[in-house]
Amino acid sequence: MSGPNPAALPSVLACLAEEHRHMRALLKLLELRASQRAALELADYYLMRDIVAYLHDYPDQVHHPTEDLLFTRLGKLRPDLRSEIESVKNQHRQLARASSRLLEDLEAATSAPAIRSEQAIRKRVQSFALHQQRHMQRENRSLFAAALAELKPADWKALSRRAHLHEDPLFGSTVQSRHRSLFEFLLDADRLFPLAVANSAMDTQERLIAAVTAIEQGGQQGLAIMRQAAGSLIEETRARLSGAKQATSLLGLMTTPWQFGWVVARTFGDCSWKLLGISATTTRQACVAVWQRPRE
Ligand SMILES: [Fe+2]
Ligand SMILES: [Fe+2]
Repeated sequence: MSGPNPAALPSVLACLAEEHRHMRALLKLLELRASQRAALELADYYLMRDIVAYLHDYPDQVHHPTEDLLFTRLGKLRPDLRSEIESVKNQHRQLARASSRLLEDLEAATSAPAIRSEQAIRKRVQSFALHQQRHMQRENRSLFAAALAELKPADWKALSRRAHLHEDPLFGSTVQSRHRSLFEFLLDADRLFPLAVANSAMDTQERLIAAVTAIEQGGQQGLAIMRQAAGSLIEETRARLSGAKQATSLLGLMTTPWQFGWVVARTFGDCSWKLLGISATTTRQACVAVWQRPRE
């Protein structure tokens, strides 16, 4: 999360932000394995399976449901955020299904790794990691900040009563046997892969994701504007061909082509002007995303 001092955060939010940091580190590791140059070996499949198993066991079962409670409360205080909240909750369900499916496939790959399925597994793992990272970034940027601003101490107290019922099976005080091998790998990896380097790589990647997201949104807005302009021209043309805007005088008849030309030029001008504005905003947002101060 950007901005506030983590020490000053309500415990539920501090815990969620800490879990995001753990998840980011694991997703980075997942992505590095899936994109390595060397062919995937059995140990790589085991590691990827263990990471996805943790994401399925804890973030899907505890972290996301805790966020659902938090966001539901936020939605009552900020009705304008309800559609964003519904969309994020929907992503929780999609991510849970995706991790469940990926876990099954990685389990199968550890039993019988096949060269022909390697590329498909790599792509799915990379796409899974990207979606998870985008999801967390969305929460960090909009909903966590809004919750911090809107929720009252009583809200946080009620949430914390329900949120701390489950301990993290990997990063908590007791490591569960199912996650023991990943825990031991991380102890070694921490020595081999300095945290500063990992954080720097993650920050760079997050910035690129934010820039790409801004460009995607700008592209969608541009397409919507062009669609709107095309629709209005089609409507104008139909009205003229159907006689709904038929000229009633000789002067009107003579100037009809000019009037139509003027409508086309004005629509084109409006559309270009709006596209120019969208492209300026998109460029600015993409630059801000790339050059912004590192978070956390
Ligand atoms: Fe979430
Ligand atoms: Fe989250």
